[in-house]
Amino acid sequence: MFVRPSSLPSAPAGWYCIAFVSEVAVGSVLTRSLAGHEVVIFRGQSGQIGMVDALCPHLGGHLGHGRVEDDCIRCPFHGFCFDSHGDCTRTGYGTRPPPRAKVRPWTFIERHGMLLAWWHPEAQAPTWEIPEVPTELWTPLRWHTFALKSHVQDIAENSVDIGHFAVVHGYESVETLAPLRVDGPYLCANYAMKRPRTTMGMESPRVEMVIHQFGLGYARVECLLPEYGMRTRQFVLGRPTESGRVELNIAMSIQYLEKPSRIHPLLAMFPKRMLTDWILKAAIREYASDVAQDVPIWQVKQYVAPPALAEGDGPIGAYRRWARQFYSASDAATWAAAESSTQIGGLHLAGLELETA
Ligand code: FES
Ligand SMILES: [Fe+2]
Repeated sequence: MFVRPSSLPSAPAGWYCIAFVSEVAVGSVLTRSLAGHEVVIFRGQSGQIGMVDALCPHLGGHLGHGRVEDDCIRCPFHGFCFDSHGDCTRTGYGTRPPPRAKVRPWTFIERHGMLLAWWHPEAQAPTWEIPEVPTELWTPLRWHTFALKSHVQDIAENSVDIGHFAVVHGYESVETLAPLRVDGPYLCANYAMKRPRTTMGMESPRVEMVIHQFGLGYARVECLLPEYGMRTRQFVLGRPTESGRVELNIAMSIQYLEKPSRIHPLLAMFPKRMLTDWILKAAIREYASDVAQDVPIWQVKQYVAPPALAEGDGPIGAYRRWARQFYSASDAATWAAAESSTQIGGLHLAGLELETA
């Protein structure tokens, strides 16, 4: 029995965070990569957001180098303008727009401060969405971006890889609070743990977290710190940019504190909103430093199918079975065959997939 590394196709279907809403002010133009395509995001004068391919269908200008005119993106080459549907509304010469001058619009949704673009390897329309969550009592998002050699499935696998929590991050007292649950494109995991280091000179509190994963590019981690009476929300947002590369945004928000004195008596003297923002600034730095511990491992690891799982691992088998739905039928069938046997402690258990949660 050999453990064979195999590679994953680069861009599974799903919603991917392509930008944060606060990056797209009126009149701004951004270019981001998704699944080997350059995508231009712009916000017109009315506030409407457009998301279209970067390639101008006229003579190949790059729309990401253009500018916003009314609610359109204007190509820098000959001044053709395209609206958010991708239709050419005028040429740079005042002549009739040619019928073929149509640029591909991307499907996207706006959710709690993010723009999430839909990608499907076979160009199918979305069959599921990501739910909205209330944000009125929460700080605006702060985020940190990593560009790395990896795959979104490997990054999302971290959520169920219980074994690495202590080894890579030094988390203590890791507990699984509920078994892994899957429902269509949704996966839910529930843990409690402690960070090893102290924050602001105090002992780290116990954190209870519920991971809401939708597809392979979006996870919302709802955290409760019972000792502090504090709630934080973390997002893990991997986006396949080109083959073998991912842009990973981690983002964070904190529910405005009601009783900061529960963290430390001296904190009662500060305005609560300002204090919450300060804590968020420190917390996103800590969160980024945790993820920076994963990055060098992701960059050189390979996808092993079947994996040689041991007692102490998380529900990797169940996660991988769930993840197959985001690939084309032929890719999914290839892995089903590759992973239909699993090794544990040198023992080969044919046809048995391990679920340890
Ligand atoms: S290439 Fe875009 S207007 Fe000509
Ligand atoms: Fe990790």
